[in-house]
Amino acid sequence: MSDFISAQVSEYLESLAPERPPELQEMEAYARKHRFPIIGPAVGHLCYQLTRMIAARRVFELGSGYGYSTAFFARAVRENGGGVVHHVVWDEELSKQARGHLTALGYADIVQYQVSEAVDALARTDDQFDVIFNDIDKEAYPQSLAIIEAKLRPGGLLIVDNTLWSGRIFDPEDTSASTEGVREFTRLIGRSPKWIASVIPIRDGVTVAYRT
Ligand SMILES: C[S@@+](CC[C@H](N)C(=O)[O-])C[C@H]1O[C@@H](n2cnc3c(N)ncnc32)[C@H](O)[C@@H]1O
Repeated sequence: MSDFISAQVSEYLESLAPERPPELQEMEAYARKHRFPIIGPAVGHLCYQLTRMIAARRVFELGSGYGYSTAFFARAVRENGGGVVHHVVWDEELSKQARGHLTALGYADIVQYQVSEAVDALARTDDQFDVIFNDIDKEAYPQSLAIIEAKLRPGGLLIVDNTLWSGRIFDPEDTSASTEGVREFTRLIGRSPKWIASVIPIRDGVTVAYRT
């Protein structure tokens, strides 16, 4: 991660995140060791806070990895009175790892698992959600928005990771599909009357959007 947000600010924000249970700390250590891109404790805590704030009980995650971000949503849903968090990733091995971690954390009754392309999985559900979290490959961000709009209830929250994309969005010479995906997604959601959206400069940038 480049320090386009100062290391001082990043370290400070991370230090403010409440302490995590040992299982989550092991997941953080695994991410550091294997350079696996998890949302980290500051964004995890923000996801937990926002999910508590709207008393959400139905959460759908797109691009769940080995379940680190899922744990923050599952905790919030449990404290909101119970419900469901959908864990969706297209890699069987990551889904298996997530089951192990999230069961150890005590969320076996809350998390449902699917090994699938995540936008297709969301399109297949009949449910509406209170919170949708998007962390899939960035080139797919723009096309995911229409499905998300259809599946998030009015008044629901969309949380999208990596919307500052390590500062690559500021480089006019970077026209890669992933960077263009982040730029286009941010333009689309900012102009749409269906959303009230802001980019919060924590870690790699998090868009928080309210479905009108
Ligand atoms: C950036 S990692 C995020 C991990 C997780 N959100 C966390 O913070 O703990 C995204 C994961 O989703 C997977 N992924 C990316 N695009 C996907 C898609 N369109 N459908 C399903 N999985 C996807 C990636 O292979 C990777 O395992």
